[in-house]
Amino acid sequence: MAEQARPSEALGLELELGAIELALGSAPRVLYEDVHVYPLSAPAFESAPGLDRAPLPEGPLKLYVHVPFCNYACTFCFYAKRVGVSRARKERYVDALIRELAWVAPGTPLEQLYVGGGTPTALPADLLDRALEAILSRLPRAGRASLTVECSPESLTAEHVRVLGRHGIDRVSMGIESLDDRVLATIGRRHGEREAALDALSLLIESGFFVNADLIYGLPGQSEGGFCADLEAVAARGPHSFTLYNLRLNEFTPLADAVRETEGLDLARLMRWRAIVKQACAGLGYAQTRWHTFVRPVARDSSYHRAPCVDGFGAGRQLGIGTSATSHVGNAVYRNDATLEGYLGRIESGASPVTGVFPLEAADRRTLFVARSLGDGGCLGRAAYRAAFGAALEDDFGQTLARLAGAGLVEDRAGAIALSEPGKLVYDLVLLAFYPERSRRWLAARQDAARRSGRRLAAD
Ligand SMILES: C[S@@+](CC[C@H](N)C(=O)[O-])C[C@H]1O[C@@H](n2cnc3c(N)ncnc32)[C@H](O)[C@@H]1O
Ligand code: SF4
Repeated sequence: MAEQARPSEALGLELELGAIELALGSAPRVLYEDVHVYPLSAPAFESAPGLDRAPLPEGPLKLYVHVPFCNYACTFCFYAKRVGVSRARKERYVDALIRELAWVAPGTPLEQLYVGGGTPTALPADLLDRALEAILSRLPRAGRASLTVECSPESLTAEHVRVLGRHGIDRVSMGIESLDDRVLATIGRRHGEREAALDALSLLIESGFFVNADLIYGLPGQSEGGFCADLEAVAARGPHSFTLYNLRLNEFTPLADAVRETEGLDLARLMRWRAIVKQACAGLGYAQTRWHTFVRPVARDSSYHRAPCVDGFGAGRQLGIGTSATSHVGNAVYRNDATLEGYLGRIESGASPVTGVFPLEAADRRTLFVARSLGDGGCLGRAAYRAAFGAALEDDFGQTLARLAGAGLVEDRAGAIALSEPGKLVYDLVLLAFYPERSRRWLAARQDAARRSGRRLAAD
């Protein structure tokens, strides 16, 4: 390993990379979603066209709305999206969303709204207005519920900003990813001039929203210094928070086909990037609140309140509407048709939009429990685990815990398991160790195929 790739210097930690790799295996070449979003991180959905979702439990609901339109297709992006869609089609899509929403009883309290994509602001402002009006008139906002809408710099207009303000949207998240023209060209992202992107961010901040900016590190052709310079330039405009993702390669994206095995984020590079990103954020006054999230302390009070999407560990009450959206209802996760035509056809003919299901078995529910505690920045409490499953943590995960503790990745703290400082740098790989055998086998088969393709590229 090259001297400059050592993560220990960046964090001031003594790291035994060999022992960590032995305990965790090597870093996966492809990742689907972040690992704490189980089972979307191992999306082995069973085909179930037209399956009806289980009835929603009573009480407040967490709603995700997918808007699958973009002005360009970034080569790293695995979300369901379409470029170059006509206004007429977008109108049909908003009609279909409103029709799908009829599945929720009117008056159901809205605990959290997240409108993502794709790019919600790739909808003309009047159509976004119609969609938000339909949602918020059917589902009254409960208490401190947060309402978030994603956007991209080039698609946001002053009219969008007025629409978001009129509906009481309190958090807007803008994807910027990079300000470096060469990196942007590599990833096929055309969000305009550097200053224009920064000005779009400033417009949101000046309009009074809680503003988050997304950047990605580990992109091809990106240097550590270049990333930190981008971060500094964006921070100078004063966003309240950053979401800083490491590049995840998904095997179905053009970028996965172009990144050679030797260019991927191996364990050492991943840990070093994470250590550097954390340090750079601290230097700019942003504290890490979740794995990818860094918040200005002054912004914390008004910070986005994340509602739990499950009651306890199992009975989900999260509904996703739109193409590819997933719903966690009861003990199953349902996925809607991921194609625009398929989704429109199903909704317009009065059929269920669902095409896939992931029933959550006992082993999946245990993994979910770990994902929502240890995997989401918290501690894995022994008493809470026993209360949920009637078994001791050691009974279910004894060998895994011993292996992780042996490599210095987890620590015992007053009746709970917590990640150590090195463990935090590989939180996702630690969490994979708690996945059910079935999911690990499914992921391993995909990794093998993806690695073969990376090696083939390297040999070309
Ligand atoms: C749906 S997009 C956000 C909004 C908007 N479409 C945009 O790109 O400006 C959500 C975020 O996911 C992140 N993302 C998408 N694909 C990713 C990948 N392969 N690896 C890491 N982050 C990714 C990007 O940071 C992106 O801003
Ligand atoms: S990252 Fe955003 S703009 Fe780029 S393709 Fe994905 S959803 Fe669209």
